[in-house]
Amino acid sequence: MTLPESRDFSYLYSEETKARKPSPLKTCIHLFSDPNIIFLGGGLPLSDYFPWEDLEVNSPKPPFPNGIGAPITGENVMQSHITKLEKLHEGDIPLARSLQYGLSQGQPELLNFLREHNKLIHDMHYEDWDVLATAGNTNAWESTLRVFCNRGDVILAEAHSFSSSLAAAQAQGVTTFPVPIDENGIIPEKLEKILDNWTEGAKKPKLLYTIPTGQNPTGTSLDDDRKHEIYRIAQKHDFLIIEDEPYYFLQMGEYIKDLTIRKNKSTNVKLVHDEFLKSLAKTFLSIDTEGRVIRMDSFSKVLAPGTRLGWITASKKLLKPYLSLHEMTIQAPSGFSQSLISGLLNRWGQKGYLDWLLGLRHEYTIKRDNAIDALYEYVPQNPAFTINPPIAGMFFTVNIDASVHPEFATTYKSNPAAVEQHLYEKVIESGLLVVPGAWFITEGNTVPAQPASSTENNTPNEIFFRGTYAAVSAEKLREGLKRLGDMLHKEFQV
Ligand SMILES: Cc1ncc(COP(=O)(O)O)c(C=O)c1O
Repeated sequence: MTLPESRDFSYLYSEETKARKPSPLKTCIHLFSDPNIIFLGGGLPLSDYFPWEDLEVNSPKPPFPNGIGAPITGENVMQSHITKLEKLHEGDIPLARSLQYGLSQGQPELLNFLREHNKLIHDMHYEDWDVLATAGNTNAWESTLRVFCNRGDVILAEAHSFSSSLAAAQAQGVTTFPVPIDENGIIPEKLEKILDNWTEGAKKPKLLYTIPTGQNPTGTSLDDDRKHEIYRIAQKHDFLIIEDEPYYFLQMGEYIKDLTIRKNKSTNVKLVHDEFLKSLAKTFLSIDTEGRVIRMDSFSKVLAPGTRLGWITASKKLLKPYLSLHEMTIQAPSGFSQSLISGLLNRWGQKGYLDWLLGLRHEYTIKRDNAIDALYEYVPQNPAFTINPPIAGMFFTVNIDASVHPEFATTYKSNPAAVEQHLYEKVIESGLLVVPGAWFITEGNTVPAQPASSTENNTPNEIFFRGTYAAVSAEKLREGLKRLGDMLHKEFQV
């Protein structure tokens, strides 16, 4: 079946994008690799002078029988040898090329792997999609803002969202308007109501920035059914959906409180590739019929943050302005990263990479279970405290009704933010760092402002603290959460 072409959304571009002319030098760079051309056209240093002849790296070998994180020794070692000029493996990117200027979209061997990987994960409904390598999702988001937004433009974001992303938008003079969320992510009915009642004369939002899986900071994951609804609303009100998905492959399934049931389940069920793929949340890309979704993936949480490598998937039309922007900003992600990661992934193969992701799922499930077990043990068992066990990502939250604090009305003058700040100081005193929800509030309003009903907070006294189970050993995690529980018991006298 032939799929339709994506729609043209160029009317949503920023003034910067509309004004950008292609760099004339970039129009001839492809001739650099033409053996019939003596290329004197660019300031490209001779690769003979790159002081790296080759890279030899040891990595773990699929299917990672001892689990991921096991020592990389003996027969579990996969050796890669990446040279300056030759391809010793089909997926290798010779250093003479990866460390040279050019190929701003990314090196072909890496892009091909990513395209094939995408085909396993997403069910694409339009023909002309592609991928573009980025220096991670921070870079992808900053570029997205520049491609689409002018100062004074408005975007939508979850009512609590990743503070760096919000700050990036605000620094560019973009208003971030909050969308109500609950334990299953964005509430479509509320989103629709906000947009249906949008104040006349106020700029309509161009983008929805969302972190659907293992959201940062709330740890929640957006229901698949809600994604369909949100996509419909995006069509109705004509905005693009930016799915920022660094935690997508840290999906763990439901938390099972009963230890006997949990144990039986985990020994009986060892997911195979097909089951694993089926178990993954539906992506906005898989719902998209028009090229209205821009997806940002990153290797930061599944390989290492310092790789500074990720990719955008979108329609070829929408990727064009990103490419032009990147030619003038990052030029391309680091050549070392591209050579190393392409060498690794192409040796692992698609199946080996799925083995890796399955291994991560296993590790994170144990960490999540440990954290939630400890929270149920130590946090006061009282309706004022809620824990929503995450099904994906790295984060848990402890949600607290601040009005239950014995000094809420007196010392804190009925101000939940003051209780939160006080608890933050107390928790640090106890020797633990978890961060207050206030750091992640999406603030912003349009001019003229939206109706009061659109900015209403139905749980004004609810505060929360965000923690991660990713970063420390099981013992430290338990000890830290005990400190949190002890502090809450003492403070709330429950
Ligand atoms: C939602 C979200 N987006 C982006 C990032 C940064 O990702 P990257 O390392 O790919 O730039 C993070 C990191 O914490 C994040 O939580």
